[in-house]
Amino acid sequence: MDVIKHDVLIVGGGLAGLRAAIAAAVEGVSVGLVSKVYPMRSHTVSAEGGAAAVVRTDTGDSLQLHFEDTIKGSDFLADQNVAEYFVQEAANELIQMEHWGCPWSREPDGSVAVRAFGGMSVHRTMFASDKSGFHMLHAIFQTSLKYDKIVRYDENFVTSLLVDDGRCQGVVAMDQRSGEFRLFTAKATILATGGCGRLWAFTTNGFINTGDGHGLAYRAGAPLSDMEFPQYHPTGLPGTGILITEAARGEGGYLVNKNGDRFLSDYIPSRMELGPRDIISRAEITEMEAGRGVPGRYGDTVMLDLRHLGDELINRKLPFVRELAERYIGIDPVHNPIPVRPVVHYMMGGVRTDIDGQSPLPGLFACGEAAQEGLNGANRLGSNSLTECLVFGARTGRVAARLAAQTPEASAAAIEALGADEEARIAARFGEATGDERVGQIRSDLQLTMERLVGVYRTGDSLKQAAEELRTLKERFTRVRVDDHTRVFNMELQAALEVDFMLEIAETVVAPSILREESRGSQARRDFTDRDDEKFLVHSLAYRTENGPQIEWQPVILTTESLTALPPAERKY
Ligand code: FUM
Repeated sequence: MDVIKHDVLIVGGGLAGLRAAIAAAVEGVSVGLVSKVYPMRSHTVSAEGGAAAVVRTDTGDSLQLHFEDTIKGSDFLADQNVAEYFVQEAANELIQMEHWGCPWSREPDGSVAVRAFGGMSVHRTMFASDKSGFHMLHAIFQTSLKYDKIVRYDENFVTSLLVDDGRCQGVVAMDQRSGEFRLFTAKATILATGGCGRLWAFTTNGFINTGDGHGLAYRAGAPLSDMEFPQYHPTGLPGTGILITEAARGEGGYLVNKNGDRFLSDYIPSRMELGPRDIISRAEITEMEAGRGVPGRYGDTVMLDLRHLGDELINRKLPFVRELAERYIGIDPVHNPIPVRPVVHYMMGGVRTDIDGQSPLPGLFACGEAAQEGLNGANRLGSNSLTECLVFGARTGRVAARLAAQTPEASAAAIEALGADEEARIAARFGEATGDERVGQIRSDLQLTMERLVGVYRTGDSLKQAAEELRTLKERFTRVRVDDHTRVFNMELQAALEVDFMLEIAETVVAPSILREESRGSQARRDFTDRDDEKFLVHSLAYRTENGPQIEWQPVILTTESLTALPPAERKY
């Protein structure tokens, strides 16, 4: 088996992975970037609305205000030292993006434009029309090309981490183009694999968002944290789940029920359409349950009305919204409201790391959506995520590079043995299997289970039922057969490996959701409707055991260095 050596290895070629790669390369170490897809196909490309930072103070903005919005948005489950660092670094990173060529939208006087976003007290979201992710990814990808120290391995699927001597020493990956397995050794390995929205049937996430990084870390013994908090975005297109950006509301769009009422006046009158996502998603479900939804081919929706914004503004600031609505549901928002409903969008949980991106498994780091570094708590604010990828991608890349520079090389013999074992494991599991179950069917049943039982609202009973169904799905998966035994782009085999991860990750969502007997941020329990700081001002940590996840708890960090910490209080808007 080929062995490829780097000082730092990054898995994932989206915004966080590329930012980490550049930061590590600047430190002078050799960087390998392994990605399941060509980097411009990473899920960052579909981010729309923008990236938050305090870049304009004429709006009344300040670091303290961005910090407070983030902590309050998180329902006080964010680590405050992490949020403090985030707001302090955010503007530097977005200005850096401009220098790398990101075409931020501007005002007529040339100053950078900022728009309103949910849960943000003032306009602070920089944007590039409503294709912010595309432009940011393009700019950073092109910048990465000038660093000789960064070597890319596109279209390689990582199947396991190499853990020897108590350290992560790299990965085993399958080259999709040849089907060959290769070993990538590294002194520091960074997971930047994005989220796992594909655990659910109705999601804004691309097909690639199967949570591979979560699965890799979990199997290697690192804990997944706060997985009970998937974020529902209030405006997904029925049928496909395609995102209609929050920028549509930031620019002044209304949400109305079937009576034409702006129903948010009953839920969050001070913020209306610019409330945080968890509150608005719950309001939409409540309206539908009360019979005030608009029936449609894919079930009930509410309506996003942009007509009053007019042709000119929509074309200038929301052209992609118009294109998506026209293409996917045949509605021109200039003339008609768009049907929308809550859709799984983002995972607050991920591989537990410290502020440096370091996981408890030595040598293993994570950043971006794959990580739970402490920024988002129980509910992330829209537009904090692109900035998070940059701020913590950069820090993690730097720290990993410095660690790599002081770390001796791994023992080649031990690593090669691990690689051979992994190839044999996959051949034995999927090479000859003749069972009666199909990968696609199990994936679809898993997604429907999560959709039905682990949604915006949950109960202890629905969650226990989900746990039971997951056990059955795992048992069925032991009988899965893969018919395609060719080597080149064997997508059936890759799907089997993904679903194998997904079944385990789904359990790390359900198990802490059952134990967290409270409602906080995106976890709304109908049987425990209040927040309970006495018991649950803690992050969950899910460790893998043969019998499923074992859950431990870790206190939230409530201290800061220079900003004023925000003591937990009732979350009022
Ligand atoms: O609605 C949006 O544009 C999403 C932004 C985000 O999740 O940060």
